[in-house]
Amino acid sequence: MDLPWAEPYRIKTIEPIYRPSRVEREAWIKAAQYNLFNLRSEQVYIDLLTDSGTGAMSSAQWSEIMLGDESYAGASSYYKLKDAIERILGFPFFLPTHQGRAAENVLFSAMIGVGDAGQGKVVPGNSHFDTTKGHIEFRHAKAIDCTIDEAFDTELDHPFKGNIDLAKLEAVYKKYPRQAIPLCVLTITCNSSGGQPVSMANIKAVAALSRQYHIPLFFDSARFAENAYFIKTRETGYSDKTIKQIVREMFSYADGVTMSSKKDGIVNIGGFIAFRDQELFRQCCTFNIMFEGFITYGGMAGRDMGALSVGLDEATEFDYLEARVGQVAYLGRKLTDSGIVVQRPYGGHAIFVDARKFLPQVPKEQFIAQTLGIELYREGGVRGVEIGTLLADRDPETHQERYPALELLRLAIPRRTYTNSHMDYIAAALANVKERAGGIRKGFVIKWEAPIMRHFTVELSPAP
Ligand code: F0G
Repeated sequence: MDLPWAEPYRIKTIEPIYRPSRVEREAWIKAAQYNLFNLRSEQVYIDLLTDSGTGAMSSAQWSEIMLGDESYAGASSYYKLKDAIERILGFPFFLPTHQGRAAENVLFSAMIGVGDAGQGKVVPGNSHFDTTKGHIEFRHAKAIDCTIDEAFDTELDHPFKGNIDLAKLEAVYKKYPRQAIPLCVLTITCNSSGGQPVSMANIKAVAALSRQYHIPLFFDSARFAENAYFIKTRETGYSDKTIKQIVREMFSYADGVTMSSKKDGIVNIGGFIAFRDQELFRQCCTFNIMFEGFITYGGMAGRDMGALSVGLDEATEFDYLEARVGQVAYLGRKLTDSGIVVQRPYGGHAIFVDARKFLPQVPKEQFIAQTLGIELYREGGVRGVEIGTLLADRDPETHQERYPALELLRLAIPRRTYTNSHMDYIAAALANVKERAGGIRKGFVIKWEAPIMRHFTVELSPAP
């Protein structure tokens, strides 16, 4: 018999978590104005709000915390990180930043411009993450989504739903002049389409097309290791390659990357930009110094850079990834077995529950995925996050609601943090909600909302 996977680590330190009663949960979600972001973490039993910065570090990473060199310039921790990025990703130049969106801010300041310099410019990609899109639109440029259509059908099994549709991309390259396309951003894995990977063949083809039109190609590589795992296990010709070989090949096609280290760096805070081109690196240095900090720390403590240098190595080991992605799939299978429709195939960092199929009677004006998120918290003290109409926000010009193609409840799994017993509990809680779903006919209405990024602070009340 083939032996199943099991975690390639054991637990040395534990953090107690409180399991609130039903009475407490009801009172707390009401006091939180039915916004899951407003809950205190002590009010949550299992927290699946995000996999970003919420992972557990290894003993080797904690050792680096003690070894951290906090010198302003030229710290040894900086050089440890520089070596890891060069060895694992293959980029000779890099800048640390305090997290992923800061890397976007610095890079886009150099490539798109500052102020309204982006007017008339476009940045194609595969369902850009919100902060990426935010930094593009903040500069008055436009993000154009070129993801394959298959990504928007949750029940369709396609191994690489993060892929770019080459015809859509080429249409953008043909429509706009070269100067109007500062870069193309490929997000690996694609968070917005469900933690879905991009195949090596697609990476190669996107790189070739971009080269043909002289457009720089950057990867938003927050979950690059999970992407490499899917290439190894799903794409012909890669099963015998190591994750580190696949990672090197993936990045060989990119001109550079932005990275949120809070995901596949397995640290609690940090990010970076890596480059091949020294000239662009030099332009970014100025913005890094202005926005982040000197070029050898960029908003990160030396100890965090040290821990990240180890995290990059650990995240690119097959045994770790098999357990990581395996745990996400374990939860996905449990939900599927209960008849719950989730984005297929299961993503690398999260399970995305199709809320429209779960609560078909709730009107779309009453925030279907948010309603499901509230019901899951009520049921079991589990906190997910809405990826639906609240997040999509209003059209900036017409102020009308922008109803997205999918209403999803994302259950993001922190790295090395919860056990499969927690997954069993989450699945049982959601199955209980499913049993009473027929009785859930109303959602929520907005009491107060901010002019942009409203989902973080919105206040809701039950629909009358
Ligand atoms: N790119 C992707 C694909 C992301 O998922 C995120 C963050 C960022 C960039 C920004 O990085 O948070 O370090 O500034 N995603 C988190 C999430 C917040 O919950 O999915 P950051």
